[in-house]
Amino acid sequence: MPPSASPDPHPLNQPSHQPAMQIDHVSRHYVMGESAIRAVDDVSLSIPTGQFLALLGSSGSGKSTLLNLMAGLDRPTSGAIFSAGRNLAELSPLELARYRRNTVGMVFQSFNLLPRMTLEENVELPLRLAEVDRSERGARVQEALERVRLAQRTGHRPSELSGGEQQRTAIARALVNRPKILFADEPTGNLDSATGEAILTLLREIQSTMGMTIVMVTHERHLAEKFADRLATMGDGKLLSTTATEVHATNHAALHATTSGNRGAGQ
Ligand SMILES: Nc1ncnc2c1ncn2[C@@H]1O[C@H](COP(=O)(O)OP(=O)(O)OP(=O)(O)O)[C@@H](O)[C@H]1O
Ligand SMILES: [Mg+2]
Repeated sequence: MPPSASPDPHPLNQPSHQPAMQIDHVSRHYVMGESAIRAVDDVSLSIPTGQFLALLGSSGSGKSTLLNLMAGLDRPTSGAIFSAGRNLAELSPLELARYRRNTVGMVFQSFNLLPRMTLEENVELPLRLAEVDRSERGARVQEALERVRLAQRTGHRPSELSGGEQQRTAIARALVNRPKILFADEPTGNLDSATGEAILTLLREIQSTMGMTIVMVTHERHLAEKFADRLATMGDGKLLSTTATEVHATNHAALHATTSGNRGAGQ
């Protein structure tokens, strides 16, 4: 049988020629009276599909600004941001809203759940906004909640959940529209270290089982080194460095062994 007749079911094993995100000379400046703040200053970065990238850097270095640009929450002052071949800087407001709704999921430090809604209603909200048919919504919510292991708590309100459970709910809400990229801005910032580690274990699992691209801002370098494939460090709006972690080296070796075995030839 020719190799092309048996597609590899694991998305991470599919050769991907297009990066999930391609950032070319992106700047975001804020004009404050006479002076301009260069929140993001001429950053170029390519993020391969399926990569777990951690964005590090001191407070005010531009991490959230860059993440928001990639998530379509903000537009660059100059430069191009390509996602699935489209330049976000050139999309109309409506197209950008569609991109935010259908292509990306977002998780924040403070969970941002709606307190009056149950866990199930919170997770269902993006499906209602995307006008997914009611008959389909229940199964999709259940699937997302099972992924974060909260399928038993659907009727609870956020205040009845622990911080870790609230963040897991927020992750389920971010996943329910089946996004291609998950953005997380300090997702463990409000959690104790054990709970933070559990959240990152979950994100890593989502990355490997769903082939998800993840971009996470964090101040916790040790967690980034333990769970992410690659670290990108910012300073004063500039990208100072990017380095592959040992996690990536281990994954890459495993992936290489799998693909070599499947295709009968190493490459
Ligand atoms: N709306 C805004 N108007 C003016 N300046 C802004 C605005 N948003 C961000 N900035 C400035 O841009 C710079 C980068 O901010 P950003 O929030 O991206 O930093 P950060 O790396 O995420 O910091 P932290 O780790 O504290 O969250 C800061 O100097 C900030 O004050
Ligand atoms: Mg920030």
